[in-house]
Amino acid sequence: MQRTNSPSLTGKAALISGAARGLGAASAWAICEAGGQVMIGDLLVDRGEETAAELRAAGHAAQFVRLDVRDEAAWAAAVDATVQAFGGLHILVNNAGIATAVTVEDLTVADFQTILDINLLGAFRGMQAAIPAIKASGGGAIVNISSNSTRRVSAITTSYAATKAAVANMTKSAAIHLAQSGANIRVNSVHPGPHATDMLLGSDAKADLPEVQALRAAIPMGRMGEAREVGAVVAFLASDAASYVTGAELFVDGGLTPH
Ligand SMILES: NC(=O)c1ccc[n+]([C@@H]2O[C@H](COP(=O)([O-])OP(=O)(O)OC[C@H]3O[C@@H](n4cnc5c(N)ncnc54)[C@H](O)[C@@H]3O)[C@@H](O)[C@H]2O)c1
Repeated sequence: MQRTNSPSLTGKAALISGAARGLGAASAWAICEAGGQVMIGDLLVDRGEETAAELRAAGHAAQFVRLDVRDEAAWAAAVDATVQAFGGLHILVNNAGIATAVTVEDLTVADFQTILDINLLGAFRGMQAAIPAIKASGGGAIVNISSNSTRRVSAITTSYAATKAAVANMTKSAAIHLAQSGANIRVNSVHPGPHATDMLLGSDAKADLPEVQALRAAIPMGRMGEAREVGAVVAFLASDAASYVTGAELFVDGGLTPH
């Protein structure tokens, strides 16, 4: 007799936004390696198709759909495509995001609106589109990718940290609503610290910049995270192993935030 809740995702279908590369792709690998099936949604068509093909080549069930998280119709189509491909939808990972590095004096309203539209409203649209399909599939889990910038800000996190804090609070409201309404859908946020993805570094050359070295030195574990370390946490929260976890913030940051 099994005495622990299972981390297996066998038979579970996931839709992950922004999963062509970076932390989203790592989440796709983690969900697949736990037995799940994955629909990769992204603006980057070639990279997204490539990631899906790599997953299939490793024996996993993975497909790509073009998704712009700013577009409600595209979200509806991505949810439909997932249900068509895998017979249901159990897991939504709202991972797509962009970062800007601008002070309050230099940020324009237009640029603030762009990042709000992707980081905050993109995740909101995703939840609205996916919840009916997750309910129809018997329940599941939503994981929203926030950031450790909800706690640690700098002069240039004006809009980015604001959107990520909003994602964390929106997550909690959705968690409470879905728990109280008996929907059997848990909702949690993941808060990565610095991870060496395209978003943060973009190129190997940037890894040697003094500010990047200082950032690394500030992390108690002395290194940036690897994308797979976020993916594993996403898969855990999506699984029954986290069956009593909802409305939580899980930091994946080598100890940076409590330091
Ligand atoms: N890398 C870090 O250090 C770090 C730290 C904290 C939080 N995060 C968060 O993790 C998430 C993933 O970031 P990453 O580091 O992998 O970055 P990344 O830039 O490598 O990946 C982001 C992905 O989102 C996609 N995307 C952007 N806008 C989109 C849109 N409108 N519609 C659909 N897809 C879109 C991109 O094409 C890309 O594939 C983001 O939400 C980011 O804010 C990253």
